[in-house]
Amino acid sequence: MKTKVLMVCLGNICRSPLAEGILKSKVDTEHVWVDSAGTAGYHVGNPPDKRSIAVAKKHGLDISAQRCRKFDPMDFLEFDHIYVMDKNNYWDIVRLATNEGHKQKVKLLLDGTDLGIAEVPDPYHDGIDGFEKVFEMIDAACESIANKLS
Ligand code: 4NP
Repeated sequence: MKTKVLMVCLGNICRSPLAEGILKSKVDTEHVWVDSAGTAGYHVGNPPDKRSIAVAKKHGLDISAQRCRKFDPMDFLEFDHIYVMDKNNYWDIVRLATNEGHKQKVKLLLDGTDLGIAEVPDPYHDGIDGFEKVFEMIDAACESIANKLS
């Protein structure tokens, strides 16, 4: 059975597609399934934001084939770990949980890193520099998640 990890942000076009691509690059995908979703449905069916695609490409990752989807409460059954980028995402997801076990699956991505930052900031209104900073944070978090999963 694969361990299943879901990365969640608001739009599923900037941060969580990066998190999906980065974690996939660090784990054995024979044993770990990684997906991403948004708490909102504004961009369903769309590819990631061009700036996320560009920053990923700069780091050798191709995330352009990903397509946006909205978080579904059924994801609580499907996934073992649900990593959220910020506290708004946390409460938006946790309020959909119908039992304590499902609630416990939801964690802030940066928890357990030594970055000293609680949240991955929303880079949507930033330039490419904001996306690069977000990439670095997500990369550090995914490194420790990948180590724990292997
Ligand atoms: P994300 O960024 O949550 O990292 O995908 C956003 C993308 C789109 C919007 C907000 C945040 N939006 O309002 O459309």
